[in-house]
Amino acid sequence: MDNRPIGVFDSGLGGLTAVKELKRVLPNESIIYFGDTGRIPYGTRSRETIIKYAKQDMKFLMQYNVKAIVAACGTVSSTASKIGNALPVPYIDVIGPTAKAAAEATKTGRIGVLGTSATINSGSFYNALKQINRDFEVFTEPCPLFVNLVENGFVSPGDEVTQLAAQRYLAAMKADDVDTIILGCTHFPIIKWAIGAAVGEKVKLIDSGRETARHLAKVLEEKNLLAQDNAEPEYRYCVSDSVQGFRNVAELFLGGAIDGDIVRIDIERY
Ligand code: DGL
Repeated sequence: MDNRPIGVFDSGLGGLTAVKELKRVLPNESIIYFGDTGRIPYGTRSRETIIKYAKQDMKFLMQYNVKAIVAACGTVSSTASKIGNALPVPYIDVIGPTAKAAAEATKTGRIGVLGTSATINSGSFYNALKQINRDFEVFTEPCPLFVNLVENGFVSPGDEVTQLAAQRYLAAMKADDVDTIILGCTHFPIIKWAIGAAVGEKVKLIDSGRETARHLAKVLEEKNLLAQDNAEPEYRYCVSDSVQGFRNVAELFLGGAIDGDIVRIDIERY
C-alpha cells in the first residue's frame, strides 16, 4: 500500500480527461496535476522543445514524492517515448494502452488515428497498431486546430466552428470507412460529439486519457502501489499560466467541480 500521490501532466487541460477517469477507477488516490498552460501547444513544436518541456514537467512533479508519473499527453508520449526510462517510479504514457484498446475494439481492422501534428508525424500509434497486428489498415490525420478550439472553450455540442473543423479534418477518414478512431490527443474527448457526428455514430472512438488511466490502475495494483482503501484523496492542480483561465474550462474536462487547490507555478525554474 502506498498513499503517495500520482503525478499527471499535459501541455494544458487535456490531461484532465485522464484525471477524470483516474478519479473514477481509483477513488482513494491523491493526484497532483500539472498543465503547462503557459506553453501550450506542444504539438506544433520541435522534438527538442517537446523533450525539454516534458523533462521540466516531470522534474516539477517529482518534487512531490509521487509514486508514478502519467504523461497524459499524446504529443509527449509520441515524441519522447523513452523519457520515463530514467525515472525511479513507474512512468505511463498513452500510446500502448490506447492502441491495445483500439485493437480490441475494431471489427474490420480499419483504424483511424487523430492527434497533433507531432503525434501523427512520429508514427507512434501507427507503429503500435501495426505491432499488434500488421494486417490492420491505419489511417492518420493531424488535427492541431482541435487543441486551440478546446483550450478556448469552443466545446459546447453544436458549436458551429468546431463542427466545421471536424467535418474538414474527418472527411478523408470517413471515406476510408474506418470502424474505430483513436483520439490520440487528450484534448479531443471533449469534442467527441463533433468527431462522432462527422464520421457517423457507429464508429467507435477510443479515448486515450481514459485508457491510460485504466492501465495505470492495473500497474499500481501489480506493483502493490495502490493507496489504502480508507485513504482520503487530495487533489492539486498546477498551471503555468492564469489560474482563472484554468478554472473557466477545467470543470468541463473533469466533468464536475474542481475539487482541489489551483496553483500557478514557474515551470522555467525546473
Ligand atoms: N493534450 C495534448 C496531446 O495529447 C495536447 C497537444 C498540444 O499541446 O498541442 O497531444
